[in-house]
Amino acid sequence: MIQIGVIGSGAMGAGIAQVAATAGHKVIVCDNSQSALDKAKTNLETTLNKLLEKQKLTEQSAIEITSRTIYTNDLNQFKDCGLVIEAIVEILDVKQKLFSELETIVSGSCILASNTSSLSIASIASACKNSERVIGIHFFNPAPLMPLVEIIPAITTDENITKESKKIIDSWGKVTVLTKDTPGFIVNRVARSYYGESIRIYEEGMADFATIDWAMKTFGGFKMGPFELMDFIGNDINYKVTESVWTQFFYEPRFKPSLTQKRLFEAKLFGRKSGRGYYNYTEGTIIPEPNKDEELGKYIFNRVISMLINEAVDSYYLKLASIEDLDLAMTKGVNYPKGLLKWADEIGLQNVYNTLDVMYELYNEERYRPSILLKIMMKDNKKFYE
Ligand SMILES: NC(=O)c1ccc[n+]([C@@H]2O[C@H](COP(=O)([O-])OP(=O)(O)OC[C@H]3O[C@@H](n4cnc5c(N)ncnc54)[C@H](O)[C@@H]3O)[C@@H](O)[C@H]2O)c1
Repeated sequence: MIQIGVIGSGAMGAGIAQVAATAGHKVIVCDNSQSALDKAKTNLETTLNKLLEKQKLTEQSAIEITSRTIYTNDLNQFKDCGLVIEAIVEILDVKQKLFSELETIVSGSCILASNTSSLSIASIASACKNSERVIGIHFFNPAPLMPLVEIIPAITTDENITKESKKIIDSWGKVTVLTKDTPGFIVNRVARSYYGESIRIYEEGMADFATIDWAMKTFGGFKMGPFELMDFIGNDINYKVTESVWTQFFYEPRFKPSLTQKRLFEAKLFGRKSGRGYYNYTEGTIIPEPNKDEELGKYIFNRVISMLINEAVDSYYLKLASIEDLDLAMTKGVNYPKGLLKWADEIGLQNVYNTLDVMYELYNEERYRPSILLKIMMKDNKKFYE
């Protein structure tokens, strides 16, 4: 079994190391902060103890996982690794410097992967002499629990490196989807409308946060409403992802951030972790009641789901991923109750198109333009799943 290197022992690196060690690999975790390494080590022990208590792990496996995981601040320990996954700070030149240094340490056959959420894999790979072995392997937080991993070859990545990376991550019991090196990859791009269109509905004064959350849970079956979810993710992270996807897509109106969330971000109202976001989490605060008007609820759901479906359809049209992978990404990466393209078939492409077209006519905004693929498929009377 190949040795795995993980750089960065923060939230993501520590989780990825746990997954790899549980799958049976020797894992070397490197961080330039000793306290981050210590914390990762303690956290792994705590997690394994909890799994032991719940009888999800044997004592022998826990001992083996612990002994297979090595912590260091010396990159030279990576010399025998077959795959190195980088999960350090999200700053391009810091990552580039690390990748070019790594290349001088590891063997020629070692795969170099980045867990970046928002940087292009091409730009990270460009720091290497052999950019063919550089790829994106994007886990979701928390890595041990979230099944999805996006595999993102850059324009320069060798096809065999893509195949090999997918094979390794599949063998860890993860659900892999193959996608293109475009901003937000699949999940962080397609999910933008869930937040953006919901905020827009609020900004237009049609409904408050509680009502929009109620509508999406009641009529869509989503586990969390958009505002609950943004507060859970953190409005700092969620705002920054939106801004990054929007700017990287050359200011595409569909991804435009909202002033509502920007102000929350500026006021440090990050959500659950700061005690207040869209909602107030201070103990004793009365939870706002939704307006359970069925007609309004259905309108909200219909509008948000149509925008989400439009993004998924356009992503398919632009060959971002296969139909199956686009749907898997949303069900396994963000727990959507159904894949969006399957949902499109169920709602009917004509109905989705009509909702979007009414808004497009009404607002005269590019944001609501239906994907050309909807038109093509309607004309040919086609469905995504025949
Ligand atoms: N947090 C998420 O939800 C999430 C999800 C998917 C992907 N990501 C991506 O994963 C990466 C890491 O995110 P995180 O949330 O784990 O960050 P984090 O801040 O929790 O951890 C980053 C770690 O990297 C270490 N580090 C920084 N520079 C280093 C260097 N040059 N060499 C070695 N160690 C270094 C830091 O000491 C820190 O321990 C980022 O690229 C992020 O975009 C994050």
